[in-house]
This record gives sequence, structure tokens and C-alpha cells, in this order.
Amino acid sequence: MCIIFLFLTLSLSLLPTTTTTTSTGVTYSTPPPSSPSPPPLPDCISTAMTTLNLHSLRLDDPDPSIIRTFLYTNTTLFLTLPNYMVSQIATNRTVALAWLYSHVVPFYPRVNITTISVGNAFLDSYPEHFSDLLPAITNLHLSLRNDLGIRHIQISTTFSFVSAISSPFPPSSAVFQEPPGATNSFFGSLLQFLQETNSSFLINIYPYNLYRLRPEIPLGLALFQDHAFNFRDDLLTGVRYRNLFDMMVDAVVSAMAVEGYETIPVVVAETGWPSGSANGNEVDANPGYAEIYLEGLVKHLASGTGTPLLKDGVREVYVYEMFDKEAKEGRDWGLLYPNGTMKYDIDFSGTSSFKGVSAILSLLLVMWLCLLE
Ligand SMILES: *[C@@H]1O[C@H](CO)[C@@H](O)[C@H](O)[C@H]1NC(C)=O
Ligand SMILES: *[C@@H]1O[C@H](CO)[C@@H](O)[C@H](O)[C@H]1NC(C)=O
Ligand SMILES: *[C@@H]1O[C@H](CO)[C@@H](O)[C@H](O)[C@H]1NC(C)=O
Ligand SMILES: *[C@@H]1O[C@H](CO)[C@@H](O)[C@H](O)[C@H]1NC(C)=O
Ligand SMILES: *[C@@H]1O[C@H](CO)[C@@H](O)[C@H](O)[C@H]1NC(C)=O
Repeated sequence: MCIIFLFLTLSLSLLPTTTTTTSTGVTYSTPPPSSPSPPPLPDCISTAMTTLNLHSLRLDDPDPSIIRTFLYTNTTLFLTLPNYMVSQIATNRTVALAWLYSHVVPFYPRVNITTISVGNAFLDSYPEHFSDLLPAITNLHLSLRNDLGIRHIQISTTFSFVSAISSPFPPSSAVFQEPPGATNSFFGSLLQFLQETNSSFLINIYPYNLYRLRPEIPLGLALFQDHAFNFRDDLLTGVRYRNLFDMMVDAVVSAMAVEGYETIPVVVAETGWPSGSANGNEVDANPGYAEIYLEGLVKHLASGTGTPLLKDGVREVYVYEMFDKEAKEGRDWGLLYPNGTMKYDIDFSGTSSFKGVSAILSLLLVMWLCLLE
């Protein structure tokens, strides 16, 4: 183990130390057909991006009409192929090609699609089908490169932190948790694919969930609060952590290093803090804490300091989620109310002034479009 830690420390300290800014985006997932309220109009989603002053959008199981509204804009799109299609695509490349024909071919490159995730937390929903994941990714990749000749969209899959990483404390001791029943290295093979295709490792990181699972974690550490005593030391590496987000990112980096792939870029495909919950016992799901978390996150990413093990920081972060909706365990995650007004007074771009005239105009426009429903 010591050799691994030494290797980790050495190899990570040799990485370039220029500060780069992580790009921040937001997620939008199509409500399930059973949802009581109709989905917002596609134009409402593109206008909401302007309100939020963001240029990266992650769409879960997207309707092509939403993708269409981003023609000739400089918003980059990250598309997620739904979990229920993964096993079909693993066995039948025609299904992969058909999905690309409806979601990518009509729009690319006039819509800047950068990433396709094959499933989202697929192992959590279909643990017994883990062995379909890599064949599905490979089939989609082959369809894209060989059948369509598209080379600049990366293909990956998205994991949830809690199920993919075991022993995250301290971060340097983290390793990947192989799916139950996996005989050879599932994560090793996946990371090899990502390295060979120049793709990123995608992971959903919710300090909120880890904080709830581990009573010893102080709230301030989860909320990016700067107090003198608000830290945790990784005694194995001598690194001091001042927020749980960095600890979780570094646990991912350490797990990748154990497999020998610590240079693969990391993208946080979802993060956030709920502003409310249908369960009465979730007192920490409130708008005050949600705003503190999001503000802390934006400020931390804008600082360009990265994490102790990843000086360049994660490549992209997507905040979950654009609108409130009744989905994830009865919690409210929206940055915007269903009527399109902002829930928080936060400049998500971390750079320009949110209160500019164009932002106010777009806010009026989004309210108008969203109230049309
Ligand atoms: C394009 O995106 C950048 C940020 O990535 C932004 O600063 C710029 O204003 C955008 N340009 C247009 C025309 O929307
Ligand atoms: C693959 O999918 C296509 C389209 O759904 C279908 O027509 C074809 O029969 C499938 N092939 C196999 C071998 O299942
Ligand atoms: C798409 O977005 C990426 C990342 O922002 C950028 O590097 C690239 O130039 C964009 N491509 C086009 C065609 O605008
Ligand atoms: C890998 O991807 C990055 C950005 O996503 C790009 O700048 C670089 O040129 C790519 N390298 C190769 C070998 O494709
Ligand atoms: C939008 O909804 C929120 C929460 O329900 C409410 O507080 C706000 O007043 C609404 N705004 C408009 C313009 O209806």
C-alpha cells in the first residue's frame, strides 16, 4: 500500500500546475410520463440557460426537440442515453446507430454536442447487468466513429460516488468498488477505454448524501464553510481538506491512480443540495443550506485552485437541476421554480455580473415562456 501512496503522491505532484477554470453547467432531465405537470417548452429550457448565465447543459434522456433549440448557439450539450437502452445497445449496434440518427445526426455540429454518457448511475439501477455497460459504450463509440465518421464527441458513462467508490476516508485510501459478481477488473477495462478514446470519467458527487450517511462529517465541511476548525486531514498524504467536495473528487482521483489511470479528466456530472424534501426528517434540505452550498461551489470553482490531488481541478461540473420536479426521492433540486423564476441570487457563471440588463431581460422572457404552458 505504501508504494501505491508514494507513487500517487509523486505522480500527482508531477502533473502540470497551471490553474484552469472548470466550466460550470446545469442538468435538465425530461420528467417521466407519469409526471403530473407537462414538461416545459423546449424554448423555455434554452432561455433558462441565459437566465442562469451558463453555457453547458446536460440533458438526461433528451427529446430531440430540446436539442434542436441549441442550433447555432455556443451552449455545449452533454447527452445521456437512458439506462433502459444500455442492454439493447450492448447486443445490437443497429439500436445505437438509430439513437444517434435521432439525437445527433440532425444537429451535429451545428449543435455543439461534446459528450454522450451511456446511462446514468446504470450500476445502481441494473447491478446484475454491469457486464453490458462496456459493450454498450463500445457499440456507441463504433457507430459514432466508424458508421458516422464523427470523431469529436466523447463517449463515457456516469457513476454515482456512493456505489462506485469504497473507503473514501481518507481520500487517499479510496478504491473502486467492483460490481458484485465482476470477475476481472471492470473499472480497469473501462478506464482503459476512456484513456484510449481521450474521454473523461463522469461521476455524480453529492456531499449532501455522504453527509447524511456519515454522522461524523460536520455540516460546515459539506457546505464549503470557511471556519478555522473546519477541516479534515488525510494523515496518509498529509493533505488538509477544507470541504467535502474536494475530498470526494480526490477519492475518485486516488481510486483511478490505484488502477494506473490518474490522468483521465474528471467531470462531475451532477452535484447540488436540495432546498426541500417531502420526507419530514430531512431538516438539512432547506433553501438556506442549498444557497450556501451552491455559492460555495461556484466560488470554489472560480478560484481555480483545483483540489489537493488535482491541481487543474475537475474539467466540468453540472449542477443538478434546472427546474424543481417531483422525482429524486421527493426532494426539490431546482435552481429555478417551475414557473421559471430564480430560486437563488447566485451568479453561476462565477465571472460576469448576473444583474446585467440582458440577464433581467432573459428572466422576463423565461417567465413569459414558462408561464405559457
Ligand atoms: C459564448 O460562450 C462564452 C463562454 O463560454 C461567453 O462568454 C460568450 O458570451 C458566449 N457568446 C455568445 C455569442 O453567446
Ligand atoms: C437489432 O435492432 C434492430 C432495430 O431495432 C432490429 O431490426 C434487429 O432485428 C435487431 N437485431 C438483432 C440481432 O436483435
Ligand atoms: C464546442 O465547445 C468546446 C468546448 O467549449 C469548444 O472547445 C469547441 O470549439 C466548440 N465547438 C464548436 C464547433 O463551436
Ligand atoms: C483530447 O481531448 C482534448 C479536449 O477534450 C483535446 O484538446 C485533445 O486534442 C484531444 N487529444 C487527442 C489525442 O485526441
Ligand atoms: C414563481 O413560483 C415561486 C414559488 O412557487 C413564487 O414564490 C413566485 O412568486 C412565482 N413567481 C411568479 C412570477 O409567479
